[in-house]
Amino acid sequence: MYLNLGIIGNPLNHTFSPFIHNYFLYTSNLCGGYTCYDTTLDKLDDVINIFKEYNFIGVNVTVPYKQEVIKYCSRLDITAKEIEAVNTLHFTENGIIGHNTDIFGFHMMLESNGINTQNKRVLLLGAGGASRAVIPYLRINTPSSFVIANRTIEKVEELLSLYDNNAEVCSLSDLKDEKFDIVINATSLGVKGEPFIDYGFHIKEAAVDMIYKPQVTSFLSLYCNQDIKLVNGLSMLIYQAAGSFNIWTGKDIEPDMQYFKSLVYNK
Ligand code: ATR
Repeated sequence: MYLNLGIIGNPLNHTFSPFIHNYFLYTSNLCGGYTCYDTTLDKLDDVINIFKEYNFIGVNVTVPYKQEVIKYCSRLDITAKEIEAVNTLHFTENGIIGHNTDIFGFHMMLESNGINTQNKRVLLLGAGGASRAVIPYLRINTPSSFVIANRTIEKVEELLSLYDNNAEVCSLSDLKDEKFDIVINATSLGVKGEPFIDYGFHIKEAAVDMIYKPQVTSFLSLYCNQDIKLVNGLSMLIYQAAGSFNIWTGKDIEPDMQYFKSLVYNK
């Protein structure tokens, strides 16, 4: 059987997902392909219908449709329901099931780099879509203190409603001279290579960025000369893809990170 897979989002011109999934198909000896649907909001209904008509098995969902697609799902898995965001659609006989594998991706990014937030002082920068994947992990691996800092304070409210433990909220300018064990950048600052602003906080253990390009992102470059772990978002991207692939095909992928690193950074 040919496995029709794909992704919807806007824009998609820089997506790395087709490389990842076509590689997963090849290494799993499966016949199929992964197509990009760069879609405007008014065409979303049509595109979902095309997926059904052409017997798509699975579709990834990226910015800005992770919440918009919920209305097409007949059921959400527990994680997608929890953070009200879907990054994986699974087309089944019982309708479209919405999943979220970003949480698994985030979990694996920390675990594969030997980082655990339990009993640590953790700072999360940003309160947009990317920040949502962090919340379920922190609820289980509870930090001793958890601070969320965002440029627009009002936007943190929605994120806080997803977290049922105590979290402190502050603006980015309040972080000067504060000390954290682990800092996670989930803002989009640096995504186009623009410099990251040094807000003057100190990191003792790890700087983690959800952005994966360039290899040393603008945020990570601020800490290059310090003896802390620097983790970019490539492993999160690859592991969320492995999670989606598993849902669609039942195959457990052990991603070869060295291979993906060379593909992304040595081209
Ligand atoms: P994504 O889905 O990639 O997370 P998003 O939902 O638009 O995108 O969220 C972007 C995040 O980056 C937000 O937290 C945003 O801050 P605001 O809520 O104040 O908009 C943050 N962000 C974007 N540009 C920023 C900048 N120049 N300085 C600081 N934070 C920035």
